[in-house]
Amino acid sequence: MEQGVADRLNELRAQIRLHAHRYYVLDDPVISDGEYDALFRELLTLEAEHPALITEDSPSHRVGGEALQAFATVAHGSPMLSLENIFSAAEFSAFEEKVQRFLKTEQPLRFITEPKLDGLAVELLYRQGVLIVGSTRGDGLAGENITAQLKTVQSIPLRLQGHDEIAVPEELNVRGEVFLSKKGFHLLNRQRLEDGAAPFANPRNAAAGSIRQLDPRVTAQRPLDFFVYGLGNAEVVPYLSQDEIFHGLARLGFPVNPLIKVCATSQEVEAQYQHLLVIRHTLDYEIDGMVVKVDELSLQQRLGATARAPRWAIAWKFPAIQATTVLEAVEFQVGRTGVVTPVAILKPVEVNGVVVRRATLHNQDEIAKKDLHLFDKVLVQRAGDVIPEIIKSIPEHRNGLEQRIVFPSNCPECGERLVRSEGEAAIRCVNPYCPAQHLQKLIYFAGKKGLDLEGLGKKNVEQLIREGLVRDIPDFFRLDAEKLAGLDGWGDKSARNIIEAIEQRKTMSLAQFIGALGIRHVGEVTAELLAEHFTDLAQLMAADKEKLLQIEGVGEQTAVTLVAYFSDPAIQQMVGQLLQAGFNIQPVLVNTQPLAGRIFLFTGTLAVLSREEAKQMVKALGGQVASSISHRVTDVVAGEKAGSKKKKAEEQGLPIFSEEDFLALLAKVQS
Ligand code: IVH
Repeated sequence: MEQGVADRLNELRAQIRLHAHRYYVLDDPVISDGEYDALFRELLTLEAEHPALITEDSPSHRVGGEALQAFATVAHGSPMLSLENIFSAAEFSAFEEKVQRFLKTEQPLRFITEPKLDGLAVELLYRQGVLIVGSTRGDGLAGENITAQLKTVQSIPLRLQGHDEIAVPEELNVRGEVFLSKKGFHLLNRQRLEDGAAPFANPRNAAAGSIRQLDPRVTAQRPLDFFVYGLGNAEVVPYLSQDEIFHGLARLGFPVNPLIKVCATSQEVEAQYQHLLVIRHTLDYEIDGMVVKVDELSLQQRLGATARAPRWAIAWKFPAIQATTVLEAVEFQVGRTGVVTPVAILKPVEVNGVVVRRATLHNQDEIAKKDLHLFDKVLVQRAGDVIPEIIKSIPEHRNGLEQRIVFPSNCPECGERLVRSEGEAAIRCVNPYCPAQHLQKLIYFAGKKGLDLEGLGKKNVEQLIREGLVRDIPDFFRLDAEKLAGLDGWGDKSARNIIEAIEQRKTMSLAQFIGALGIRHVGEVTAELLAEHFTDLAQLMAADKEKLLQIEGVGEQTAVTLVAYFSDPAIQQMVGQLLQAGFNIQPVLVNTQPLAGRIFLFTGTLAVLSREEAKQMVKALGGQVASSISHRVTDVVAGEKAGSKKKKAEEQGLPIFSEEDFLALLAKVQS
């Protein structure tokens, strides 16, 4: 029995490793999210039942383990150096000449150029192909042991892929940059502001803050990413150039930045710099320059390093993209949880090709920290498509006409007094019936974390409210195709599609439902915890504070908020109405049904089953049925004369079953 389990565990780990690499490193998945989740869940369940079989390189470490008391210190195998900075082509020529002088050559040098990622440097030590220790740069000689945290970064391999051509070295010391995507940064900051926490100033700080979490489970919630940029012990590999190192590392499973380029001349280096400067805004991660390295390893060795930096590499930094303008007004926006966010209205100014008119000011503390006044001259910065930011005011330009920014004492929408809780930076409107909050809640419910209706964005929800079709969440389930089709900008087809999509979303897991309500302090993770603990909505609604506090991961604030939320008669009424409207919250246990988590789409004509029968069978086995291709669909069954949907499914790489396959699947899962 144990052997059987061990074999299955090995098989699961190998599959998960392969699919994670395809998804996170190659960006080319071959199975659906649902299938991947099912493999992962099976791994976690089996390991929980057989803890003795957990291995160092198991993908289960990706979810984060026990919290640490403190970080231990790790000495680096060789020093982790810094780089000298330059800012111009002239300085680059000077660098090249210096290198040539040192090497006593006049030959042009071959360089390799790499985007300079703006994250934090880490060292990864692999023994016999398994990640053993990961550490921060620290003072260059020793850093902090962040192994458990780094294991949660999906694109860092926990085990190297052996490759026929290169045996995996006994010990490999890999260095690279951990970073947070721009998108991940925004999501994180939005959540922090909602929770009343101070926002991170930039993705780099956010990445550093996320890695230095003593509790790796917190790190696991942050969408960190990684690119490798070199080796700490290049002597163990048979390569002759930095370029070959990158190819070798990619084969071992490391993510290598696709913008790395070998340049035969300094003209090519310069052209690549200009290229990166232009495209940096299109990247989903921040780069603050380009690193240029002498490509040939033997030359790198001859050049060596000073105490601070190698002589064979240089960081050619981008100029800062900043401009000055005038802060003309401040607007106060009320969010879903009542947080009032100040937004700066700026005199329009062009920053690196884009006209900036607004910038978030986050909260009152940020305004004070940056010493901002109305009509101040301010320094604004834009980094990629990161939302423009005011860096600071420029007090030297003041003429005495500037005015203090006064935070309203009452909600700009409903007039309720605003409250700042102790220890929080956020100021909130605490009126549970505030129309502005309500609007945001409805937008949230229709959005990604709720009904996930692509056709029902902010503008449409606003329209439905204006037209009196939606006043509260249950109204989404009472929408009528005919009335919708008659609205400005809608047609029969879009109306029917939305109604159908809403109909499908009437079945949700408990965790999804809790998350969709958009309760303060209750994000996706907490929603999962609650759903696991209570298994049905009635129990959760009846739970008192003590019961809630028994759940690991639920703190005082969350417990108090939940009790207040569910004891509100208006909320109870709303939930009642949802259930009445046919809303079906799947108890957690349903997840063990064989097709749980899978969403089938049928297209073409089936020969044996009728379409209706096929759908019923999927539902009876815990699956769901979709009527159009979306990112939620996991399986497609194509019969005779399947047309555009099949094509679309193929393009998305979805698994496509014939009717025969489908019948075989049904037989298998029912046996
Ligand atoms: S090579 C010995 N390559 O920049 C040379 N560094 O300013 C070590 N960085 O600490 C660095 N992208 O954190 C190198 N492609 C890249 C890089 C890169 C970002 C960071 C790294 C380093 C810092 C030096």
